[in-house]
Amino acid sequence: MKNYFVTLIIASALIISVFIIRQKAQAENASLKPANQSSATIADAVGAKTNSHEGSPIFVTDIPPGYRDWKLVSVAHEEGALNDIRAILGNDKAIQAYREGTLPFPEGTIIARIAWSYLPSEENNKALGKAQSFIAGPPTNGVQFMIKDSNKYASTGGWGYAQFNDGKPADDTFMQRCYPCHKKIESRDFVFTRYSP
Ligand code: HEC
Repeated sequence: MKNYFVTLIIASALIISVFIIRQKAQAENASLKPANQSSATIADAVGAKTNSHEGSPIFVTDIPPGYRDWKLVSVAHEEGALNDIRAILGNDKAIQAYREGTLPFPEGTIIARIAWSYLPSEENNKALGKAQSFIAGPPTNGVQFMIKDSNKYASTGGWGYAQFNDGKPADDTFMQRCYPCHKKIESRDFVFTRYSP
């Protein structure tokens, strides 16, 4: 009888330890998974979240943080239907590449384009004594970004394109227009704007 109990206790201890070891191995496996299966890319690292559905890697779904504080590359004015005044800004990588004349732009470069309605300023004209002043009115034509991540955006020349209207991403059909037009300036890594010193 005594032997029977000893065998029973040893057997239970064995079963319990096998169970504990298995649980531990599973937990370790689970904690390894994110690292092994990570799909983190340069675009993620610079805060440019993209949607995950296959076939449309060009659509960036979150506005890159802090872009409004980036340095100025240049300004431009579009007439016609757009009728805006715009500023092109760059993150630190963009500015450094621009200043050093580096082409193609390095991975992680982001270039932003913000725009405002182009309006005459009555206030300024009054002070000037003639109608000559034009200023930035309310924001218009969305906020645009080009994000360099050669792997992620290989199908669109290494750049991901994004436009946000009132904080919301523009629709897929609209976004299909970006790359074909920017392809016309492929010789300068798809970027039209030159640096204004
Ligand atoms: C029909 C041509 C055309 C289309 C379509 C177009 N762009 Fe551009 N883009 C330009 C030109 C030209 C400039 C430079 C002059 C300017 O800003 O007006 C420019 C400038 C930019 C810039 C500043 C960097 C640079 O290349 O000068 C960004 C960022 C940008 N566009 C993003 C986009 C995005 C995002 C889309 C799609 C929603 C888009 N563009 C669609 C022609 C185009």
